[in-house]
Amino acid sequence: MEKAKIPIPKLKELKKEKKKIKMVTAYDYPTAVIVDRTDIELILVGDSLGMVVLGYDGTIKVTMEDMIHHIAPVVKGAPNTTIVGDMPFGAYNESTEKAIHNANRLMKEGGCDCIKLEGGMSMVGTVRAIVNAGIPVMGHIGLTPQTSSQLGGFKVQAKDVESVRRIMDEAKALEEAGAFALVVECVPALVGKLISGAISIPTIGIGAGPDCDGQVLVTQDMLGMFDKFLPKFVKQYAKVGDIMQNAFNEFSQEVEQGIFPAPEHCFNIKDDVLKELY
Ligand code: KIV
Repeated sequence: MEKAKIPIPKLKELKKEKKKIKMVTAYDYPTAVIVDRTDIELILVGDSLGMVVLGYDGTIKVTMEDMIHHIAPVVKGAPNTTIVGDMPFGAYNESTEKAIHNANRLMKEGGCDCIKLEGGMSMVGTVRAIVNAGIPVMGHIGLTPQTSSQLGGFKVQAKDVESVRRIMDEAKALEEAGAFALVVECVPALVGKLISGAISIPTIGIGAGPDCDGQVLVTQDMLGMFDKFLPKFVKQYAKVGDIMQNAFNEFSQEVEQGIFPAPEHCFNIKDDVLKELY
């Protein structure tokens, strides 16, 4: 059967039917084209862009313009996959009006199908307002990289009774505010299971155990294209970085040795033109 964009309300049905939801990140056209050929339901154009593509140390510097610039080619490359556009730091923490304005921009200028934003209780009003403005919102709780300094760094969250209770409350409040799904990042597997069992919208886990309703990975991590650090929750499905490095080295050597370009890579000129030239 031909692949088609999954309608956002259908994600809740997948949860009910206990069918796992798959999401990966993409930041460019060629990656989007490849993901579109798979049965992965969702592409996240995440602000992890800042680290794995733009070379920043974190996500804070990523701008609305960066996001729109990278969402647009992904939308073009993956017409049959539902695209989630990530709201960057500073795009939704000043006022609800600005949050709605920027969510509109991601949808209109980027062309994504829905947006994602990070945060728990403090973001409930913002989520509600964006949803009321007609834009589907995916929440993101647990480790929220944009505010990781407040959380004491890139650390496992919800490890004590108080913080488990808090994250459970956040999940329920975000569902009640109208979020259609929640990314749950870097929490003990049991907490991922508890959250997933407590709400009717799907959880999409990253470092949140196997009982979430879906899983997401950052493409550069799972393909072995970013090795600055590798979180424990990442599985490397390929070593694309090594393949690229070998190919670049082979090209370099062949150019040095005059092996490339070979006759089959060259254009010829007709004999009569050649005769006239000499
Ligand atoms: O920006 C991103 O890639 C994310 C994932 C880690 C879920 O938010």
